[in-house]
Amino acid sequence: MDIEIRREREDDYRKVEELTREAFWDIHFPGCDEHYLVHVLRSHPDFIPELDYVALVDGKIVGNIMYAKAFVENENGERLEVISFGPVSVLPSYQHKGVGTSLIQHSLRQAMNMGHKVVVIYGHPYNYCKYGFVGAKSLNISDENGRFPYSMLAIEIQKGFLNDHKWKFIPSRVYELDAAESEKFDKTFPKKEKGFKPSQEEFRIACHAYVE
Ligand SMILES: CC(C)(COP(=O)(O)OP(=O)(O)OC[C@H]1O[C@@H](n2cnc3c(N)ncnc32)[C@H](O)[C@@H]1OP(=O)(O)O)[C@@H](O)C(=O)NCCC(=O)NCCS
Repeated sequence: MDIEIRREREDDYRKVEELTREAFWDIHFPGCDEHYLVHVLRSHPDFIPELDYVALVDGKIVGNIMYAKAFVENENGERLEVISFGPVSVLPSYQHKGVGTSLIQHSLRQAMNMGHKVVVIYGHPYNYCKYGFVGAKSLNISDENGRFPYSMLAIEIQKGFLNDHKWKFIPSRVYELDAAESEKFDKTFPKKEKGFKPSQEEFRIACHAYVE
């Protein structure tokens, strides 16, 4: 299967929101809000348009990845810019065919070429350790409360950048979505029944799990 990766264009926006909604529907909770995140991220100051990619198969958009700027802050209050990706989405009927891998690897290479140093994400370790991500604790990065969430992962794309400091990850505030606005936005899409999937329980467990 030939997978083409290119930058997202304005006329792709709605298609990307639709595929994001399909990819995330009922995955973390009944329904989803990632399509609203995509929508608001593009016009947020932390958005990195150079790292906004779509994947195409036979000319059809089947996947997307987006990045936002964030910070890590050390024990001396010094801040360094890092980046995060999310959401990353692949249309369900095109999953397990290498599309997600192409989007992640292509964008990580591009991020490195642009001079970005560190990527910090929240995600399932199973999905991302295969690309070189490690538990953020291994790089001395905690969350803002000094804890080490199980799902906080990081990769130094320029080695040694973090040196021997202790860091706190300060994510972009764009990820704090307004639930009412998200619900309103969802109503602009065709109606879709919300339901339960076991991944919702996995997500709930992962969100409350910390590494000692
Ligand atoms: C997570 C997600 C982006 C991964 O995208 P994807 O296109 O399915 O990813 P890939 O196909 O590259 O890899 C998935 C698996 O398929 C396997 N695979 C890749 N190409 C394959 C092929 N041609 N034949 C069989 N298997 C293949 C990979 O080895 C990988 O296996 P693993 O999970 O056991 O490591 C996608 O599943 C998705 O959108 N999920 C819903 C939204 C979501 O959860 N996003 C991430 C939030 S943390």
